[in-house]
Amino acid sequence: MNKVLIIGGGVIGLSIARELKKKGISDITILERGAVGKEASFAAGGMLAPYSETNKFDDFFHFCEESLHLYPNFSEKLFEETGVDIELDKAGTLLLAFNEQDISEINHRYEWQKKAGLAVEKLSATDVHKLEPFVSPDVLAGLFFPNDWQVENRKLVEALHKFCELNEIKVIENTEISKLLTENGKVIGAESKTDKFFADKVILATGAWTSLIQTEVVSLPKVKPIRGQMIEFRTAKRLFSKVIYSTSGYLIPRQNGRILIGATSEDAGFDRNLTEIGTEILRSVALEIAPSLMNLEISEKWLGFRPFAADGLPILGEIAENLFIATAHYRNGILLAPITAEILAERVVNKTNSRYFETFSHKRFQAKVVR
Ligand code: FAD
Ligand code: GLY
Repeated sequence: MNKVLIIGGGVIGLSIARELKKKGISDITILERGAVGKEASFAAGGMLAPYSETNKFDDFFHFCEESLHLYPNFSEKLFEETGVDIELDKAGTLLLAFNEQDISEINHRYEWQKKAGLAVEKLSATDVHKLEPFVSPDVLAGLFFPNDWQVENRKLVEALHKFCELNEIKVIENTEISKLLTENGKVIGAESKTDKFFADKVILATGAWTSLIQTEVVSLPKVKPIRGQMIEFRTAKRLFSKVIYSTSGYLIPRQNGRILIGATSEDAGFDRNLTEIGTEILRSVALEIAPSLMNLEISEKWLGFRPFAADGLPILGEIAENLFIATAHYRNGILLAPITAEILAERVVNKTNSRYFETFSHKRFQAKVVR
């Protein structure tokens, strides 16, 4: 087996390509309908936050945590390979409470994480202000997650793209795959409006667009876009050291003074229009966390489409002969890129199983026969 086609050039497709190359696959092609790394993976916040973003000590949590643990090596190796620093920042993350309901929410999170032996700390308002002096005086309490980190996701996709360029991974942009090519029930490639591409193995890393691909070999799981709008402020000096969540959104400080505020969660199809109401919601998230941002102009706004399956969990594995899938990473695809790439590439190259293929199998959505 020598020739692999990856459909979709987001963080997931690019990370899988890199891992396949490292495992000795010589002929890898990424087919991308637009430009590489410019969809959800570009729009994201880059938070690597299993402790702030999951709600229980289940397989999904473990998957997130394992991927987090891969990041220091992933980031170091990418720097050696490409010279691009993805700005892995281990300053930790705060979750703040501004009212009684927030307090009960953070207490619940504290309880299950403490019970699971995780590193979470309770903070008073004074503790919060010692860590982040620009946080609102209205804060009542907070949690500190020392092991929730962040990366600059735009640098991450840049680094992965550069890896492809330096390692003879073909990247074909502006090429939308409409259909998989099959022969005797096996996948043998994919076709766009104008071209056919043949391969031994095909991987769907098509994010929010996965359900649009046609194929006779398997019923593809439903993945839909959940739109996330973001806004950004800029300051000459960095005002915050940590990612800061409230119960309605988050603030992400980058090294260069950019302050990202996110994000809306909207079931609005592939509508690419930024909305006034979206901006207003994000402004109020920012002002609740740090009223001193009030006087700053918004420097940039953007949106992206999170790939969402009906239960909010990823879909991973081998789904037909020669066909693999890695999609529906929803709110955590940046975090989950290293582990997804590792287990998927192992599966493609060495047929290695992983317990996560069962948890995140596409079969969980198939109708069950009731006897
Ligand atoms: P994408 O980056 O969308 O890439 C899929 C690619 O496939 C696209 O480039 C698309 O053009 C291409 N494609 C699709 N169909 C075809 C086709 N038929 N032919 C050819 N090409 C095709 N995650 C985190 O871990 N941390 C965060 O802080 C975070 N914040 C987020 C904030 C926002 C506002 C949003 C929107 C998302 C956020 N996420 C975050 C989620 C994360 O961005 C996604 O889970 C992740 O980017 C998914 O990666 P992907 O490669 O599957 O999708
Ligand atoms: N993980 C943050 C978001 O999806 O908005």
